[in-house]
Amino acid sequence: MRPQDARILLTGATGGIGQAGARLLARAGAKLMLAGRSPARLAAQARELQALHGDCASWREADLTDAAALSGLAQAAAGWGCNVLAHAGGAPAFGLAAAQEPQALQRVLATNLLAPMQLTTMLLPHLQAQPAAQVLFLGSALGAIGLPGFSTYCAGKFGLRGYAQALRRELADTPVRVQFLGPRSTRTPFNDAAVEAYNRATGTAMDEPGAVAQALLQLLQDEAPERFLGFPERLAVRLNGAVPTWLDGAFARHRKAAADTAARPTDSLLPRG
Ligand SMILES: NC(=O)c1ccc[n+]([C@@H]2O[C@H](COP(=O)([O-])OP(=O)(O)OC[C@H]3O[C@@H](n4cnc5c(N)ncnc54)[C@H](OP(=O)(O)O)[C@@H]3O)[C@@H](O)[C@H]2O)c1
Repeated sequence: MRPQDARILLTGATGGIGQAGARLLARAGAKLMLAGRSPARLAAQARELQALHGDCASWREADLTDAAALSGLAQAAAGWGCNVLAHAGGAPAFGLAAAQEPQALQRVLATNLLAPMQLTTMLLPHLQAQPAAQVLFLGSALGAIGLPGFSTYCAGKFGLRGYAQALRRELADTPVRVQFLGPRSTRTPFNDAAVEAYNRATGTAMDEPGAVAQALLQLLQDEAPERFLGFPERLAVRLNGAVPTWLDGAFARHRKAAADTAARPTDSLLPRG
C-alpha cells in the first residue's frame, strides 16, 4: 500500500532496524504506533518523529513475552485503526548448541516466534475487516539457511518463515497480505563482539540498518510476498531451499568460527587497531 495510507504497529521500534525503519516510514507519510519495552526511549523517539513529520507517531510499552501486554497492545492498535502489523522485535542468540541455557532457548523462541504469532492472531480479526492490510515479518537469511553457531536463532526464524508462508496462503483471498523480509547480518546492537568476530572470520558482510529500512519501505509499497537481502545470501537461500544437503559441506569455516568465538573471552574478540 502507499505509505500515506499505512497505520503501522511497529514492534522492535527502539532497535537498530526499528529506529531506521520508523524514520524512513514516517518520512514517507506513514503513521506509526511504536512498541518496545522502554517508555523513555519510545517517548523520545515519537517526539523526534513528530518534530520532523507532524502528528505521525504514538507509542506503547509492551514486553513481547508477556501475554497480557501483547493483548493490550493488540487492543490499542485495533482501536487506533492499524492496517499494517510490522514485526521488528527480536532477541539474538549466538553460541554452540551444547552451551545454550534452557531458559535462554525459551526466551528467544518466545520473543522471535511465539510473540509474533500471538500478536498476529490477536490482530487478525481487525486486519481482516480493513479494506487492505499487511503483516510484515522481519525474519532473517537465517530463516532459510541453518548456520553453525545459530541453531536457536535459526529455529525461531525458520519457524517464523513457515508461519508466514502458511498464513500467506491461508489469507490469499482476504484483504490481508503476508510478507517476510530476510535481511543478512546487519550492524546494530543485536550483534555483539562474538558475532562480529564470527562475521570477520567467515567473510560475512554486514549491512547498515538503513538498507533494511529501505527494504521494509519497499515491501510495504510493492507487497512482495518474500524478499532476501544481499549477495551471496540470496543465492544461498535458493540453493539451500532446493537441495539443503548439497550445502552441508560448505560450512567448515563457520563451524570453526563458532567454536573459536565461543571459547574466547569477549575483550579478545574486539577488532585490533
Ligand atoms: N541485526 C541483524 O543482524 C539482523 C539480521 C537479520 C534480521 N534481524 C532481525 O531484525 C529484527 C530487529 O533487529 P535489530 O538489529 O534492530 O535488533 P536490536 O537493535 O537489538 O533491537 C531489538 C528490538 O527488539 C525489541 N525487543 C527485544 N526483546 C523484546 C521483548 N521481550 N519485548 C519487546 N521488545 C523486545 C527491543 O526492544 P527494547 O529496546 O525494549 O530492548 C528492540 O526494539 C529482529 O527480529 C532480528 O531478528 C536482525
